[in-house]
Amino acid sequence: MSIKDNIADEFDAFSANYTQDMIGCVPYYSKLMSHFIDAFPDGFKPSHILDLGCGNGNATATIIQQFPRANYALLDASKEMLHLCKQRFTNYSVRYINSYFQDFEFKKNHFDIVIAGFSLHHCNSHEKQVLFKKIYESLTLGGLFTCSDLMIHKSNPDHSDLKKNWQHFVHRTFPNGEKWKWLMEHYHEFDKPDNLNDQIAWLEAINFERVDVKVYENYWGHFRAIKN
Ligand SMILES: C[S@@+](CC[C@H](N)C(=O)[O-])C[C@H]1O[C@@H](n2cnc3c(N)ncnc32)[C@H](O)[C@@H]1O
Repeated sequence: MSIKDNIADEFDAFSANYTQDMIGCVPYYSKLMSHFIDAFPDGFKPSHILDLGCGNGNATATIIQQFPRANYALLDASKEMLHLCKQRFTNYSVRYINSYFQDFEFKKNHFDIVIAGFSLHHCNSHEKQVLFKKIYESLTLGGLFTCSDLMIHKSNPDHSDLKKNWQHFVHRTFPNGEKWKWLMEHYHEFDKPDNLNDQIAWLEAINFERVDVKVYENYWGHFRAIKN
């Protein structure tokens, strides 16, 4: 697969074999997705849930089992990914939004949960901070922002170790090296991960409370932040 000109086209192409590719290319993918349904506060009954960068709907598929009656908003720049979601969630209340994060008008005090699964690393540090603020404002009181992603900046001294371990992982499923080559081209062109500690500091600076964290091999991480 060759690299495309923009995120929307890139993920239109990536959508074909998406889940299998993610499991083979992203260490802890399934584990990190499962954290979207870690224990919820007592009596927590969300009515509006936003999945930012929903892809083919794997994060929503996890949480929709727990909250089947909630109203879902699934947003993605890729039309093909949204098409897969439309086929997947036929029996639920779901609104589909084909938009870039940056262009989306977040309704204030509206969502009880905002999920982001491996999507925010496509935003640079500044864009993430702007988004975190919009997400905060769009949450209801007691609302949760949950995110699973690669969490290490490319300038981090440990970044070369991450790449070594990552390559070993990918080679277990795709030993001929082609997939790793494609993945690194994609990573170079489209991915702008940030350190977990920096992201926690940005969350706390805008008054998110109780940021809970799970991390694997230092960089594959999940956080959940509460608006109180
Ligand atoms: C790696 S996939 C993750 C999909 C899914 N959330 C998951 O966990 O498997 C990233 C998704 O985010 C979308 N995306 C990336 N940057 C985006 C942006 N700025 N605005 C809207 N969607 C974006 C891509 O189109 C893609 O479908």
